[in-house]
Amino acid sequence: MTTTMSSAEPTRRDFLYVATGAVAAVGTAAALWPFVSQMNPDASTVAAGVPIEVDLAPITEGQAIKVFWRGKPIFISHRSKKEIEAAQQVDARSLPDPQTDAQRVKEGHDQWLVVIGICTHLGCIPIAHQGEYDGFFCPCHGSVYDTSGRIRSGPAPANLAVPPYEFLSDSKVRIG
Ligand code: FES
Repeated sequence: MTTTMSSAEPTRRDFLYVATGAVAAVGTAAALWPFVSQMNPDASTVAAGVPIEVDLAPITEGQAIKVFWRGKPIFISHRSKKEIEAAQQVDARSLPDPQTDAQRVKEGHDQWLVVIGICTHLGCIPIAHQGEYDGFFCPCHGSVYDTSGRIRSGPAPANLAVPPYEFLSDSKVRIG
């Protein structure tokens, strides 16, 4: 088989041009790297966990689901009108850890309660829709939380914590 020179074959001049281009490309990659690496989460952020997005559409009214963020259970409860009203009617000043319901949900989305599902007593995982207030009940030592996740009775000293989260749309939240 014979090969023939064609005008498309690179000349030395072309090669130098290509080589220079390659160096330029490497230079660009090197310049880009610090930028890209700054965009990567650092080790502490990775350890802390990245945000998660949760589609709320499948969660029917009256239903509570559990997802995990930073290794912690997060309860997302789609509250009924009755549950919302029960949470709103309480005089917050009468509570062990005074907080209004409005302080614990997002304005315009008060049908959604998002809390960290860890009992503030000794860290057990409470059960949804249990207990005197039909909120959350911790079976370990009997702490009772209401439909806003506020401690109402039992040894737990504080309300179920609210994680950082935001609504991306009416049916999607980002936690973290
Ligand atoms: S851990 Fe929940 S009541 Fe003790």
